Amino acid sequence: MKWDPSQYLKFDRQRTQPALDLMARVPVAPAGRTGTDLRITDLGCGPGTVTKLLHDRWSGAWITGVDGSGEMLTEARRMAGLDAVEWHEADITKWAPVDPQHLIFSNAVFHWLDRHDVILPRLMGALGADGVLAVQMAANHQAPSHQAIFDLAESKTWGPYLAPLVCREPVGAPKEYYDLLAPLARQLDIWTTEYLYHLEGETPVVEWVKGSVLKPFLDALDDAQRERFLADFSQTIAAAYPAQADGRTVYSFRRLFIYAVR
Ligand SMILES: C[S@@+](CC[C@H](N)C(=O)[O-])C[C@H]1O[C@@H](n2cnc3c(N)ncnc32)[C@H](O)[C@@H]1O
Repeated sequence: MKWDPSQYLKFDRQRTQPALDLMARVPVAPAGRTGTDLRITDLGCGPGTVTKLLHDRWSGAWITGVDGSGEMLTEARRMAGLDAVEWHEADITKWAPVDPQHLIFSNAVFHWLDRHDVILPRLMGALGADGVLAVQMAANHQAPSHQAIFDLAESKTWGPYLAPLVCREPVGAPKEYYDLLAPLARQLDIWTTEYLYHLEGETPVVEWVKGSVLKPFLDALDDAQRERFLADFSQTIAAAYPAQADGRTVYSFRRLFIYAVR
């Protein structure tokens, strides 16, 4: 899909927090490496926000930001201002690094990808000895915000345009990732966190999903249809996300984390 970095970055602080939480799980010297001995890939680097955090934490490391979106990479080059990072446009489903990596970090990407059962083992194979695979993916597809998109997209009105785009379960159960990675990992931690984001604005959940899960659906419609779909969607989820006493909206969002050492 065509990404809109400015819409995605509207909730930059909230979207970055899981990356910080995952980063905290990674040791100071992944695979025993530091400085220029350390090779890191930020897989699905998007606008470079997380790449910059990786760069700040592991200064001197060789860092590559990989993404399939030209728009995101343009933003990353512009915003992150990191001369030391190499940016690489590639499709993750086919990507393999030239050299073994000591840390492959992937924040908020895997729920966009099919065939985790193929890609994750391949990434483990792309690590050097004791290398770390650190992944965070949204596991929020049961939330009212996401279910409402899928239900509307499969409705009589919208189904002819949108039904083929529905993917209700892009992320597996935590135990499925255990079975997949336990045979390949010397150390493996898998956990979920439910974040309670408190968001400002009139319809912040609509704004949030416009930058992510809703985007491919909106892209498939013309301007007039898009407006009608957004109105239907806003009305459908209003009751699920009422304003709190202080006027903010609490958006509960579940995420799945994987930390695996080869
Ligand atoms: C939600 S953004 C996350 C960006 C960044 N990791 C962050 O945390 O801010 C997801 C990113 O994954 C990228 N992506 C999704 N599928 C991809 C694929 N098959 N190959 C390469 N990049 C992909 C998108 O282009 C997008 O930049």
